[in-house]
Amino acid sequence: MSNSLRIRLLWWLLVPLALYVFVTGKTEYDNARRTADLVQDNQLVASARMIAGEVEWRDGFLNVDVPPAALEIFASPYRDQVFYSVRADDGRLLAGTPDLPARPLLAPDVPDSYDTQLHGQRVRAVDLVRLMYDNGATRPVRVTVGKTVRSRDAMTQQLWRPQLVRQLEMIALAVALVCIGLTFELRPLMKVKDEVADRDPMQLEPIRVERLHTELRPIVDAINQCIARLGVQVAAQRRFIADAAHQLRTPLTLLGTQLQFARQQEGLNPALDEALAAMHRSNRSMVGLTNKLLLLAQAEAADNSQLAMEGVDLVPLAMEVVEDLALLAQAREIDLGAELHGAAPVLGHRGLLQALIANLAENAIRYTGSGGHVTVALSATTDTVTVSVIDDGPGIPAESRSRVFEPFFRASNDTEGTGLGLAIVREIADAHHGEITLKAGEGGKGVDIAVTFPRATPK
Ligand SMILES: Nc1ncnc2c1ncn2[C@@H]1O[C@H](COP(=O)(O)OP(=O)(O)OP(=O)(O)O)[C@@H](O)[C@H]1O
Ligand SMILES: [Mg+2]
Repeated sequence: MSNSLRIRLLWWLLVPLALYVFVTGKTEYDNARRTADLVQDNQLVASARMIAGEVEWRDGFLNVDVPPAALEIFASPYRDQVFYSVRADDGRLLAGTPDLPARPLLAPDVPDSYDTQLHGQRVRAVDLVRLMYDNGATRPVRVTVGKTVRSRDAMTQQLWRPQLVRQLEMIALAVALVCIGLTFELRPLMKVKDEVADRDPMQLEPIRVERLHTELRPIVDAINQCIARLGVQVAAQRRFIADAAHQLRTPLTLLGTQLQFARQQEGLNPALDEALAAMHRSNRSMVGLTNKLLLLAQAEAADNSQLAMEGVDLVPLAMEVVEDLALLAQAREIDLGAELHGAAPVLGHRGLLQALIANLAENAIRYTGSGGHVTVALSATTDTVTVSVIDDGPGIPAESRSRVFEPFFRASNDTEGTGLGLAIVREIADAHHGEITLKAGEGGKGVDIAVTFPRATPK
């Protein structure tokens, strides 16, 4: 059987209803047929009595004149044929057709109705016996009147058909109502499906569907419990990464200091100095990685609303970032400019928002060759605040643009880096309901990346 709920329910409904209609239909047909038989039998008996009343002795012989009225009572629009016969007890035919079948004699004056066949037609007939007295002896005379069954069948149909039609209409109505009702009643289930299907993989809030059926509630509750368990698991993993990064930072910093101290020792073998320098570089990138991991964990926690938000103006933050990176830009002979006018208030976490701008600006400076230009700009409308960083460097190939926000994805390995910068940017943007747009800069050159936040309204 099909797995569709609609079809299964229809089966549950249709099979018993069809059986019910079949059984009641048969009973109703039998009842209708009995009623039609009764009506026809009454006519037949009346006719037979009329004919029997005309049997008389004439000149010592039994004789009968069939009155026209005895046959006229059968007049009907169905053009039924009427047959009759009057026979004496010795089998002599007094009147009528000889073809009506002979049957055993019955008690006098008790009509007997039966179905029979005559000339290939179905016939309903009645036998009636009348006793004729002849000099103290009795002679039974049998009158048989038969009529084809067209009008009887028509009457049966007229009595039975409307009931059948009504029952079939009821079934059709039930089917239509089940289909319409199911379509309406399945809507909450479809809503639950949409709620689950449209979810971001990391969206771990419980499913909320209004006006949920009692039957669906346990399913949604079970899914919500599963989501809650997943949330606990994810939070534990994030905490573990944050804790691990935090724990690693102190020994790595210590190691860096010690390596620096070791390299300052006099009379150092050049090969050993080279090895120490390489160790120092590795140490630096490990410190960079743990710092970014920690930042990413913080940003993810903020995305789950675990950080307190405050009103922050992005202008001084961006200014600070530009000042911090000025030296790096100078070293790489890059013209670092800022377009920071007016106020750009957003609701958020100061440290994370600064990290967002810093990561974008750092990327622009890092990936733009010497002689390039990098601009950090802020713009605001009545509803939004947009921070954008534009450079005229090599740009990001269109096919990599959707992937640069994945953790550890790097478009090229020519320079050092962890591949976490833009993943952090995305987490911070999400935590602040920000929208990121990434496109090529002016004239298809470089990168134009912008994050638009909802503007904070002053209290
Ligand atoms: N302004 C840019 N110009 C050209 N390529 C860029 C620019 N910004 C990012 N990319 C490309 O996107 C990749 C991902 O950037 P992301 O900041 O996430 O990582 P990263 O800079 O490689 O490492 P990290 O920032 O963690 O030290 C980079 O490796 C680089 O290839
Ligand atoms: Mg980066």
